[in-house]
Amino acid sequence: MYRTKTCGELRLADNGVEVTLAGWVQKVRKMGGMTFVDLRDRYGITQLVFNESVNAALCEQANRLGREYCIQAKGVVGERQSKNDKIATGDIEILVSELTVLSPSAVPPFTIEDNTDGGDDLRMKYRYLDLRRNVVRSNLELRHRMTILIRNFLDAQKFIEVETPILIGSTPEGARDFVVPSRMNPGQFYALPQSPQTLKQLLMVAGFDRYFQIAKCFRDEDLRADRQPEFTQVDCEMSFVDQEDVISLFEDMCRMLFKEVRGVDLPAKLQQMTWHEAMRRFGSDKPDLRFGMEFVELKDVFDGKADFAVFNEAAYIGAICVPGCANYTRKQLDELTNFVKRPQVGAKGLVYIKYNEDGSVKSSVDKFYGAEVLAEVKEKTGAKDGDLVLILSGSPANKVRTQLCALRLEMGERLGLRDKNKFECLWIVDFPLFEWSEEEQRLMATHHPFTMPNPDDIPLLDEHPERVRAKAYDFICNGIEVGGGSLRIHDSNLQEKMFKILGFTKESAEAQFGFLMNAFKYGAPPHAGLAFGLDRFVSIMAGLDSIRDCIAFPKNNSGRDVMLDAPSQLASKQLEELKISVDLSQD
Ligand code: AMO
Repeated sequence: MYRTKTCGELRLADNGVEVTLAGWVQKVRKMGGMTFVDLRDRYGITQLVFNESVNAALCEQANRLGREYCIQAKGVVGERQSKNDKIATGDIEILVSELTVLSPSAVPPFTIEDNTDGGDDLRMKYRYLDLRRNVVRSNLELRHRMTILIRNFLDAQKFIEVETPILIGSTPEGARDFVVPSRMNPGQFYALPQSPQTLKQLLMVAGFDRYFQIAKCFRDEDLRADRQPEFTQVDCEMSFVDQEDVISLFEDMCRMLFKEVRGVDLPAKLQQMTWHEAMRRFGSDKPDLRFGMEFVELKDVFDGKADFAVFNEAAYIGAICVPGCANYTRKQLDELTNFVKRPQVGAKGLVYIKYNEDGSVKSSVDKFYGAEVLAEVKEKTGAKDGDLVLILSGSPANKVRTQLCALRLEMGERLGLRDKNKFECLWIVDFPLFEWSEEEQRLMATHHPFTMPNPDDIPLLDEHPERVRAKAYDFICNGIEVGGGSLRIHDSNLQEKMFKILGFTKESAEAQFGFLMNAFKYGAPPHAGLAFGLDRFVSIMAGLDSIRDCIAFPKNNSGRDVMLDAPSQLASKQLEELKISVDLSQD
């Protein structure tokens, strides 16, 4: 037997018991004739003690141990003289009688402690060492726990877990696909699923009624803190349900998770906000409701009151009132101006009005607008003495709203209002069915092409597709889109029409989605579903800044696995077999 106990379970009640432990050396401390070794495993840390006067050779052996050696130690549990109340085993220690080095360790490239000295790249390269750290490991433990809770919840609700294939066909809607060449079909490629969307719909046609899968998804898109090229969805689909059925079932699932994992009671019914309202009040389809600073529209206040073209020509003028920040210095205001002018935000400039504590008012548009107009702004924004009003303007309105949203989040961050221990969840509903893509110069599906239009808006499909609302819903927590789904089209004629509006020819729709439209001819049930991003859900629960920290082996910001050094070139023999030639001359 390698061990009789783990490093996390011994207590004072075990005093006098002989045990064998195995684990890694966290630290070796030599104090006079005594050597103390902190032995660590997944379950905790236990102190080993070696006494030179009892066994000099053994003590000498302990002194030669290095950090991260994998060892086995046999000894008797004793009461510790100086107790450590920071760890669960802090009352005891092991008086070691036998020590075996199972595997020595090279000097680790960074310290394996909660506050490590390792930078991001180094930690990624030696991820197996990073994973020995409590903080990283506990994120994966939480992920495991949430996965089990979700599985049990869905199982109790009669969902069946079905695995769908990873090698499927390319679906160019949405993000770019990762593709895989096929040796047996030269010149042809599989694509990795961006989600199991069409397959789960086919499972509904097949009569499965309730499906789920903890599904790996792959998207070749620009990476951010909450995006990985390879991520995991809790993917679900149900038959014979409407929007409220889906929302209420998954709201229950979320309520259960927040309660079990964080001890937080979500409200009995979560708020549902329309997409339009979210854009108008927060400039985002994923508003962070942990703090206020809602948008106030000021077009009518400023319109035509001065010869200020920036405001007069703007389709939209919007403000946020930042509490207690009238004392912002010139330097701080310049910082904010630079912030909104960054390409990622894209505003042209920032107008501020300081309503000072002493009742005086100072603004960057003093020379255009008199006290009366500024007093009206104060009233409209609800600003009090001591508050700072920040204003952005321009066209089109939603573009400016998005910029103002970035500013609102920045101010929330600066004022410490984005508290990671506070959870504000809501549903966003009534999304537009389509959005205009500047890049493609055509309408694109806001969610995906299988989303059901709101039946009331179907007459608008031909003339005003941009005004059609979707039967779609997103689950938002703390300004992050954790999940999203929709009612699906189950009528092949309507689905054909959707493809047409999205610019598919009959032939290209047939080539890519013929299998689905065909399936719909065989008694497709009305169905709906949604998918949660598991990585995002776990990282919100754990209060992480990046989803990377709850993924065992994540990719870096360039989509690389620095540990495996992937992606990498293929040997010419492999390329020949696949009949692929690589031309990098374009780079
Ligand atoms: P959607 O594209 O909204 O919907 O994705 C669902 C959820 O998956 C998560 N997610 C991601 N997480 C990490 N990295 C990424 N690159 C990434 N992309 C998405 C988000 C998101 O809310 N088939 C539909 C769902 C449906 O309609 O049933 C779908 O994939 O948390």
